[in-house]
Amino acid sequence: MYLFMEVYMIKYIGVFDNKIDLFEGQYIVKNGISYNSYLILDDKIVITDTVDINYYQEWLNNIKKELGNKLPDYLLISHMEPDHSASILKLIEIYPNITLILNNQALNMLKNFYPGVAFNNLLLVKDNDTLSLGNNTLKFLFAPMVHWPEVMFTYLEEEKILFSADAFGRFGKLDNEDNELDEYRRYYIGIVGKYGMQVTNALKKVSTYDIKKILPLHGPIVENDKLNLLLNEYTKWASYNTTNGVTIVYSSVYGGTKAAAEKLAKLFNKEYKIFDLARCDIHQAIAYAFEYKNLVIASMTYNNGLFPHTESFLHSLAERGYKNHHISIIENGTWGPQVNKLIKAYFENNLKDNLILNKSCKILSRLDDRSNKELEDIALEINND
Ligand code: FEO
Repeated sequence: MYLFMEVYMIKYIGVFDNKIDLFEGQYIVKNGISYNSYLILDDKIVITDTVDINYYQEWLNNIKKELGNKLPDYLLISHMEPDHSASILKLIEIYPNITLILNNQALNMLKNFYPGVAFNNLLLVKDNDTLSLGNNTLKFLFAPMVHWPEVMFTYLEEEKILFSADAFGRFGKLDNEDNELDEYRRYYIGIVGKYGMQVTNALKKVSTYDIKKILPLHGPIVENDKLNLLLNEYTKWASYNTTNGVTIVYSSVYGGTKAAAEKLAKLFNKEYKIFDLARCDIHQAIAYAFEYKNLVIASMTYNNGLFPHTESFLHSLAERGYKNHHISIIENGTWGPQVNKLIKAYFENNLKDNLILNKSCKILSRLDDRSNKELEDIALEINND
């Protein structure tokens, strides 16, 4: 098993899902995802959260291996999304006297997920409540909408460890991943990008605590250099601040729009990422669109409207509360380009906290002298932005 903790009193009992293809039915997870769960061993024994139902037996085996004949006193429920709550009944079947620690919102969800089941041993907690385990104390810190309304963090006071529910998690392996920050960002923007204000509130709340390690429900422990890095990145992402760079997204059928997007990219004197909306990991494109200040949208006209991938991308930005970005548009159409007008209207109606820059490019099938010049003008405007 992955050796997770130096702290003698905390044991990792989570599982790794390497069969999953799409997390939450949409996010590509090529390298799998962990469902983290821990044992806190004190005079009282706590299990933190459960795991996806497909892995309950492995998880129960992990518990049994660590506990032997000892009995756990509490199951801490941080979050009721089924990747963490689906094995609650499986645990109660083995340990019928275990007490569930949860808040009122989580209790309502528990009843919804397990209709007709009577849960007799409940410890209902309020924000800032504490619970002594003997030598150590748990403090419950509600973090609504990070990622669901019932979410609560738990601070283990003496060890200065924050159990952070979904926050500070990521997709992929429990050890180092390539492009790790990309994966943290893709996860964050994907699941809580819309809830920047609530994440900011949660960050403010925990900023008053001395935190040595963060134990999220997915991905590795966050500690040492990564702790400060992620606290800073979360602060930036939650406040919709951007970094200097350009994201270019394009939809192209016969290559004309693609050629323009690729040509423009070569004219930038700053960092950029380019995405083919029909073929890329769309959530990576969305995450970069949040990260970089400038966004270029290049699309052909289709059925007198937006190409479906372009429209879907815009919708994904709008549903996550995209703001504070500068937008440039490249439109293409053989006889009647409509995209510039349609994208502007979309931003006006759904994404109004962004700025459409002055320069744009119109292509009539293929780049020519006029449209090449327009690309250069876009590049100049963005490079000076
Ligand atoms: Fe990992 Fe929101 O559940």
